[in-house]
Amino acid sequence: MIDQATIERIMDAANIVDVITSYGVTLRKRGVNYVGLCPFHNEKTPSFSVSPAKALCKCFSCGKGGNVVHFVMEYENISYYEALRVLARKYGIEIHEREQTEEERRAEGEREAMFVANAYARDYFVKTLRDSSEGIALGMAYFRQRGFRDDTIDKFQLGYCLEERDAFARTALAKGYSRDVLLRTGLCLEREGSDALTDRFRGRVMFPVHTLSGKVVAFGGRVLNTAAKTAKYQNSPESEIYHKSHELYGLYFAKRAIQQQDRCYLVEGYTDVIQMHQAGVENVVASSGTSLTLGQIALVRRLTYNITVLYDGDSAGIKASLRGIDLLLEEGMNIKVVLLPDGEDPDSFARTHTAQQLRDYIAEHEVDFIKFKADILLRGTDDDPARRAEAIDSIVSSIALIKEPIKRSIYVKETSERLGVGEELINDGVNKKIRITADTLRKQAERKQAGLDPAGEEDGTQDLSSRVPVQVAANVLTEIERAIAQMVVRYAPLVVCTSHDEASGNDVPVRVAEYVAWDLAEDELQFQSPLYARIVAEAVEHLDDEGFDSGRYFLSHPDVEVSRFAGEALSERYHLSKYHTKFQVVLTDSERISRLMPQLMMDYKNEVVKERLDGIMRQLLDPAIAADPVRYTQVMQEYMHLKDVQKAIGKELGERILLPK
Ligand code: CTP
Ligand code: MN
Repeated sequence: MIDQATIERIMDAANIVDVITSYGVTLRKRGVNYVGLCPFHNEKTPSFSVSPAKALCKCFSCGKGGNVVHFVMEYENISYYEALRVLARKYGIEIHEREQTEEERRAEGEREAMFVANAYARDYFVKTLRDSSEGIALGMAYFRQRGFRDDTIDKFQLGYCLEERDAFARTALAKGYSRDVLLRTGLCLEREGSDALTDRFRGRVMFPVHTLSGKVVAFGGRVLNTAAKTAKYQNSPESEIYHKSHELYGLYFAKRAIQQQDRCYLVEGYTDVIQMHQAGVENVVASSGTSLTLGQIALVRRLTYNITVLYDGDSAGIKASLRGIDLLLEEGMNIKVVLLPDGEDPDSFARTHTAQQLRDYIAEHEVDFIKFKADILLRGTDDDPARRAEAIDSIVSSIALIKEPIKRSIYVKETSERLGVGEELINDGVNKKIRITADTLRKQAERKQAGLDPAGEEDGTQDLSSRVPVQVAANVLTEIERAIAQMVVRYAPLVVCTSHDEASGNDVPVRVAEYVAWDLAEDELQFQSPLYARIVAEAVEHLDDEGFDSGRYFLSHPDVEVSRFAGEALSERYHLSKYHTKFQVVLTDSERISRLMPQLMMDYKNEVVKERLDGIMRQLLDPAIAADPVRYTQVMQEYMHLKDVQKAIGKELGERILLPK
């Protein structure tokens, strides 16, 4: 944990223009800012703007940017802490870490030891492949026969594990690696009824699995001869450092290309990834034979929203994998599907084609996922109304998963044309599914609140860089909370109004952060977003700090979520949020603070009341309540009361609209 003073020192020292140019981005001065081609997506006209004065950067086309630390994070695909360390090293700043607890130190030490052992094993397997006669005769020969070039074998750090029962174990133990760490990483196994160790990957060629930042978390080992009775692949077991569902094979090698091309190809296996790379297509990752998980999607989504799934021409598993793709839809990804020619998989296809041919084939055969699913499911159902209905139902379910209404309605239209089923019918089906899902989610949330559900799978052991916050669907309330939090980040110490203090008899200034906190407290309201609530609370807490600068404070916050939000909040002058544009407010105009803040708070309360009224409406429609006169009267009274409040707010809001611009 790096403390905030150190973070501020790093940010002060790191000149954002220097750092960005040092990554090979050419910047030209334009007025007080610099502009250049965005390093995060492909473009021909520069939309990446850097403000040395504000120490912020932002791409006005793809929206990426933030402060200098966020830039390094994004560019190198590393965690906040790693980025801070990179910059500290570069500018010779000593890092003050917050004291770790005994427990944290122990856990980190154990994980670190496992990474060190895996790195050692990788080097050992690489060396065995090249230097031992068995490695050359069997392992190298196998890779060559599959058509892997030497530079490819180097790049992917492929290796070989000897057939001898404990060749690796003995060498590693002699080097001082502990038995415990060899067992916990799964590199070795304990022999039954003896404490001797056995190598897990005996006689296999080795594929190391890397994290986003390039550390080895696991291995896959393939037998040379598939006729053998053992499983084709042996993989490292789950461990403190390896969670299969949170890693994607090849991501480390693919991340730059995915970002640049704004698309990720998804294949099944190790060899598919490697062969495509070798052919020159590098934006490719593998799910390693299982269907995609939420954790894996989150990894890709940080780099791109566009994913293309490549299927073997004769893949028997297509139907089974459709469900995994539904998950992608649900997470807001744009999905295309490519079916390779009969009998080909990405591995064999890439081997016999150039990068250009591969890309051309994909471009020509790429189809939208919903269309693809419809084709697969409807195939041969013409004379079977029951199966056809089932297929349509499944397609409707997929469409219902899409969160953007416009995209959804386009699919409804296309699907109805395609299936020759009325648009309304499809639309009704979709809406019904959405309602059912919303209900289920609501019930789950209620159960969770009541403490019935366990807290979830988060166990705090993953690599920081792979922990990605999952986006929550925004509603109006959060949107307004966001706008308020944005004002707090930018203007916390500015005065909104004065308030009469009874004790001293003086009029005291009320500053933005206090104004928000007090206004909420007065009506016993709480922000539903923990992030925004925290920003308000911390701003109030530090308002009286010597020379408090809220922008600087939040931007250098040790919690990356907070500092990221601050980066956005501070650079949104050109990129006004939907909410702000609605009012045509120029946010830099601090004179307007005293008008804008009350408006925002009033809007917020209006929305809260609206949501509460909705809730009461639902209660009134509940037959159980309708049947109970006492409760019904209570609820009804609350309803009337809220209606009054709403009217009062509406009056104020209405008057506001009459204000001159
Ligand atoms: N896999 C596995 N265990 C198995 C079989 C498969 O973990 N017993 C995973 C591997 O990650 C593999 C992927 O599923 O890469 C795809 O399986 P498959 O297509 O059978 O393997 P390929 O990678 O294509 O290997 P090869 O071409 O060498 O047969
Ligand atoms: Mn294969």
